[in-house]
Amino acid sequence: MRRTAVFLGVVGVLLGGLCMAFSAEDAKKKRQGKEKASVKKEAFGKTPEGVEVELYTLINTSGMTAKIMTYGAILTELDVPDRDGKMGDVVLGFDDLKGYLAGHPYFGATVGRVANRIAKGRFTLDGKEYKLAVNNKPNTLHGGLKGFDKVVWQAEPVKTADGAAMKFTYVSKDGEEGYPGNLTATVVYTLTNENALRLDYTAKTDKATPVNLTNHSYFNLAGAKSGDILNHELTLNADKYTPADDTFIPTGEIKPVKDTPLDFIKPKRIGERIEQLKGEPGGYDHNFVLNSAGKELALAATVREPKTGRIMEMFTTEPGVQFYTGNFLDGKQTGRGGVVYKKHGGFCLEAQHFPDSVNHANFPSMVLKPGETYRQVTIYKFSAK
Ligand code: GLA
Repeated sequence: MRRTAVFLGVVGVLLGGLCMAFSAEDAKKKRQGKEKASVKKEAFGKTPEGVEVELYTLINTSGMTAKIMTYGAILTELDVPDRDGKMGDVVLGFDDLKGYLAGHPYFGATVGRVANRIAKGRFTLDGKEYKLAVNNKPNTLHGGLKGFDKVVWQAEPVKTADGAAMKFTYVSKDGEEGYPGNLTATVVYTLTNENALRLDYTAKTDKATPVNLTNHSYFNLAGAKSGDILNHELTLNADKYTPADDTFIPTGEIKPVKDTPLDFIKPKRIGERIEQLKGEPGGYDHNFVLNSAGKELALAATVREPKTGRIMEMFTTEPGVQFYTGNFLDGKQTGRGGVVYKKHGGFCLEAQHFPDSVNHANFPSMVLKPGETYRQVTIYKFSAK
C-alpha cells in the first residue's frame, strides 16, 4: 500500500515536472515568436445600401495586431509594443462602422483613385478634358465625393510565410467620379512577423487614367488616446519639397527644405518649428520630394516617440510623401474609447506621387495606360528602444 502511494507520488511529481516543462516551452516559443501568424474574420455591420462589411484581424507571431475592414479597405486599429512590450493602439479610428459612415477625415483609409488634390477638379489626357467633383473647394481631394475610402472592397486571404495577410480588391467603373477607364485596384495588407505593416498596391486600367493610391492612417506612437504628436521626433529623407498655394496646389517649383521649418533631414521634434507655419489652419501639410525619387523601395521617414520608445520607419517606392499633422482635427470627432481628436492628435505620412501631378509635366507622371500595371509598396516598420 505504502509502496503504491510512493510510486504514485513519484509519477505525479514526474508528470507535474513534465507539464511545467511543456508550459515553459510554450512560453518560450511564444517569446521567440514561434506561434503561427493568423487572420480572424468578423462581421462589422452594413452600409446604408445594405452591403455587409467585414473586419479582419491580422495577428503576427509576436502578438502584434492590425485590423482592416472591407469598407474603404480602412486600417481601423494597429496594436504595437512599446519598449516594455506593452501593446498600444497607434492609429486613430472609431469603435464601429457607424463612426466611419458618419464622415471622417480619411482615418486609416485606402485613398484613390487619385490621392491628394487635383487643381479645380480638371485635367486633360490624350486631348480630352475631364471634370471631377470639387469636394475641397476649389479643388478635388482624395478621389472625389465617393472615393475608394467610401466603397466596399472584396477581401480574400493571402498565403505568405512572412506573416498574416489579406488582399482587398475594388473595381472602379469607367466614368466613376469622372475618371476615365475601368480600373481594378488591389491592396495587400501584410502584418509581417518582424512587426512591419506592409502595403502592396496594384492597379490595371482599360483607358489611360491618373492613379495615385495611398494610405491615410493618422499615427500617434504614444497611443491614439494620448493627445498631440508634437513631441514625436521625425527624420525625413527629403532634401526638397513642392511649394504650394493657399489651396494646397503646388506652384510647380521644387525647392530645398534647408533653412525652413520643413527641414527634417536630421531628427527634429515635430513641434519644434510648427508655429512658424502660418496660414489656415497652420501646421504641416506638405508634399516632400523623397531623395530616393521613387526609383526603389527606400527609407523615407523615421519617427520616434520618446515616452514609449516606439519607433516607426516608413519605406516606400513612391517619389513623394505628404506629411500632415492633423491640422483640421478640431475636436468634432470622437474616436475609439470616447477620445476626442484635437488638432495635431495624429500625423500622416502619405506615400504618393506629387499633388496635382496630372497638371504638371515636370512632376513624375501618375498616368497609367492600358497594358501597364501600377505598383506601389509602402512599409511601416515598428520597433521600440
Ligand atoms: C490630406 C490633405 C489635408 C487634409 C487631409 C484630410 O492629408 O493634404 O489637407 O485635407 O488629407 O483632412
